[in-house]
Amino acid sequence: MTQPKGVDGWNFRIFASIGPRHMIEIQHISKTFGEKKILDSISGKFEQGKTNLIIGASGTGKSVLLKCIVGLVIPDEGNVFFSDVEFSRGNIDTKRQIRREIGMLFQGAALFDSMNVEKNVMFPLEMLKSQMSKSEMQSRVDECLSRVGLEGANLKMPSELSGGMKKRVGIARAIVLNPKYLFCDEPNSGLDPQTSILIDDLIHTITKEYNTTTIVVTHDMNSVVTMGEYIMFLHKGRKEWEGSKETILKSNIDSLTNFIYANKLMKEAKEKLKN
Ligand SMILES: Nc1ncnc2c1ncn2[C@@H]1O[C@H](COP(=O)(O)OP(=O)(O)O)[C@@H](O)[C@H]1O
Ligand SMILES: [Mg+2]
Repeated sequence: MTQPKGVDGWNFRIFASIGPRHMIEIQHISKTFGEKKILDSISGKFEQGKTNLIIGASGTGKSVLLKCIVGLVIPDEGNVFFSDVEFSRGNIDTKRQIRREIGMLFQGAALFDSMNVEKNVMFPLEMLKSQMSKSEMQSRVDECLSRVGLEGANLKMPSELSGGMKKRVGIARAIVLNPKYLFCDEPNSGLDPQTSILIDDLIHTITKEYNTTTIVVTHDMNSVVTMGEYIMFLHKGRKEWEGSKETILKSNIDSLTNFIYANKLMKEAKEKLKN
């Protein structure tokens, strides 16, 4: 992507990265549904410009934690900070302001089936950026579709798209407001391995290009070892490990080893590392 240049050739994005760091910090997040404690005092920091991962087996509370972070679920206890501003218990104006800075790729892409690709991507602009003219919105939509490799697909309906294309439209919609924070819940679910890699690469590159604070929920070990710059491992609602793709294969936590070993390929890779 060509990026805007300042008068003396400096790149504006470099200036942007000197500004306040758009870190997300969670402190002691707990959530109980009925009798079941789903999240038990989870804390962690997700840094700007990094692909941060929340990983763990199915049903372990990853999506609930992500929903607590974006404000779709209110935690029973604990706090969520966006660049030092408390979000989960903030007032309505604070929440509205932060929500404008969030882009979200929902599990399964969650496109509106009755709208074509262009209308799906334009939706957040129409909802939140009323000061933009129609032609400005149109060019922003075209730019985002082109960024995800879908130029010219504007008039296609979701039913005409493959699983990978739907995720790309979901990503285009997530970045259309130029978000500071990007959240993706299981971006690879339902995709073949090759398409999964392409979607991971796209999320990772967009994180670097836009310098977003990105949080990806996944149980895909391939994503973990390729793009996990910060990894939080959840097991039965507790944070049992945190680290990076460089350290995860050397960890000695039973629950994490079992999670990694659930995949035969990973087991073989670890055996090779030992030798
Ligand atoms: N709104 C809800 N009401 C009651 N239970 C829920 C709700 N949302 C999630 N749960 C339960 O919380 C647990 C963790 O779910 P989830 O976070 O979706 O797991 P995953 O790690 O697979 O994303 C599951 O047992 C699920 O049934
Ligand atoms: Mg989930």
